Amino acid sequence: MAASVEHAGETPAGKAVSRWSGASREQAVQRMFTAIAGWYDLNNSLLSFGLHYRWKAMAVRHVPACARGRGLDVGAGTGDLALLLQRRMGEGGRTVAVDLNEAMLRVGAKKIARRGLAGRIACVRMNAECLVFPDAAFDAVTAGFCIRNVGDRPRAFREIHRVLNAGGCFVCLEFSQPVSAWLRRLYDWYSFRVLPAVGTWVAADHTDVYHYLPESIRTFPDQEHLAAMLRDAGFSRVAYHNVSGGIVAVHVAVK
Ligand SMILES: C[S@@+](CC[C@H](N)C(=O)[O-])C[C@H]1O[C@@H](n2cnc3c(N)ncnc32)[C@H](O)[C@@H]1O
Repeated sequence: MAASVEHAGETPAGKAVSRWSGASREQAVQRMFTAIAGWYDLNNSLLSFGLHYRWKAMAVRHVPACARGRGLDVGAGTGDLALLLQRRMGEGGRTVAVDLNEAMLRVGAKKIARRGLAGRIACVRMNAECLVFPDAAFDAVTAGFCIRNVGDRPRAFREIHRVLNAGGCFVCLEFSQPVSAWLRRLYDWYSFRVLPAVGTWVAADHTDVYHYLPESIRTFPDQEHLAAMLRDAGFSRVAYHNVSGGIVAVHVAVK
């Protein structure tokens, strides 16, 4: 089946990002991901030493397996997590992969079509802050490395909570705060020195995305604060699991 990206919803104005003066956060995020979409998978593998596949596989294991389930992957990008989520949705299950960025989603839609899953995973351009789905439309929602880039995170969490069934779970995979001081120092050196240089060179990128990345990680809420935000959005049971020493964390929130 052919790869296709549908469109839905409006994009509300975002907040300004300090280093991108005058530009809205969403416009800046859009520009960055559009510029690197074709290189995103390669750079992800290089810069994480292939670990991102393992992180995604670990995250999706927290989604209870269903039969004929309905899954939603928010900020799906090039589709890795949506593909894994679809497996958890079982025979007859369906997944929707949504992302604000058309270029990223196009790469994802092609990958999904190559795996013969275009009939089961729909790719739709949509903002996490205003999901167009009815209440309780999904059994599970995932978000991999997306929430950090969202302008109004409380709003996105409320939307994710709204579209989940009662008892449904949201699994959020994000960069977080390494738990030990030596790992934090090593990680700071890697993410502020090595990562921007390699990422920018591989993607021949001029949008500063690989400088934005470590900065966005440093300013993102730590494990406890993110858990508190999820509770504030209405989730009743929230737990998190540190992976790779807390470089990433998987938050599991149940409605
Ligand atoms: C770092 S990529 C992660 C892609 C994929 N989930 C993965 O794990 O490889 C972040 C994605 O989040 C998307 N994104 C950022 N803000 C968004 C928003 N408000 N609504 C939907 N998607 C958003 C970006 O366009 C980008 O594709």
